[in-house]
Amino acid sequence: MAALPKANEACWCGSGKKFKRCHKGAVSPIRQGRISPLRTVPDTIAKPTWADGGTVERWDEPRVKSSDVIERMRRTGKEAADTLAYLGTLCRPGVTTDEIDAACHEMAIERLSYPSPLEYPGMVEPFPKSLCTSVNEVICHGIPDDRPLADGDIINLDVTLFKEGVHGDTNATFFVGDVDELSQRLVRVTRECLERGIEAAKPGRQINEIGRAIQTHAEDNGFGVVRDFVGHGIGEQFHTDLQICHYYHPRQTDVIEPGMTFTIEPMITVGSWKARLWDDGWTAVTTDGGRTAQFEHTLLIGDDGAEILTTPSDTSTHPYWALAGTPA
Ligand code: MF3
Ligand code: CO
Ligand code: CO
Repeated sequence: MAALPKANEACWCGSGKKFKRCHKGAVSPIRQGRISPLRTVPDTIAKPTWADGGTVERWDEPRVKSSDVIERMRRTGKEAADTLAYLGTLCRPGVTTDEIDAACHEMAIERLSYPSPLEYPGMVEPFPKSLCTSVNEVICHGIPDDRPLADGDIINLDVTLFKEGVHGDTNATFFVGDVDELSQRLVRVTRECLERGIEAAKPGRQINEIGRAIQTHAEDNGFGVVRDFVGHGIGEQFHTDLQICHYYHPRQTDVIEPGMTFTIEPMITVGSWKARLWDDGWTAVTTDGGRTAQFEHTLLIGDDGAEILTTPSDTSTHPYWALAGTPA
């Protein structure tokens, strides 16, 4: 259970009011739920090395991709984005995160893809599901379980598919029913943080310009930037050695080059940006129990800027595009 402020301490929302006079009662912390049995993927689908009890293999993958890898990443990225956009339509009160995971698993198989999170090795146990579902104060890597979504929740769905030998990784935060104004502002600002990060991802600049743009926008709005999880190089491997901090990190001086592929995936908080892990070794929550949101795209650096590889066929139902231009 997330640690919440004591009744007389300041509320996590930044109102300056005591917790008991502000969001106490409006919050019921996310708890560990029941996890359903492992779902299987048929052997006709090409799997990454960690499937079926395997391990992650690492090798030196070029940061600048060949045109062949790029073409495959465009296709897999779109599959992941279409899956995410569809799963977002399922986020209603009463639907469990396990049901959304089941839909993700089925859709991946229909698209002849492997859902990359499934059996991905971790510190305690492999990730047991096909999708990450992170509700309210869960920062990332939430495990789908039997908790029904409640009116007023915010939920991040993080979809990664493996197809044609490459990964496409993308996530978005969705509203469940009627969501309070602070949470709505958090989600809109988080979406804008990703947009600012993408705009900063231009060839010739240092990687740290991405985090600088994101941190500036988050803090201008009174929000925090999570430090413990970063964007990453991606391609034939889910995560390569390339790291993208979402805050200004002076030592990230590598220069952005055309042909690079990486994710930007800022996690933004209403209160403290500090994270704590549950004993499952996966679920990361804010230490103060305050809400947090995230958006993620897989990007390809072109000659003038970044191309979003995880653009769905229909952008109208996807919050990254649907929320564009809405005042925060
Ligand atoms: N999709 C996550 C990312 O953005 C990683 C999830 S790993 C998992 O990097 F095992 F939790 F699925
Ligand atoms: Co990622
Ligand atoms: Co992801």
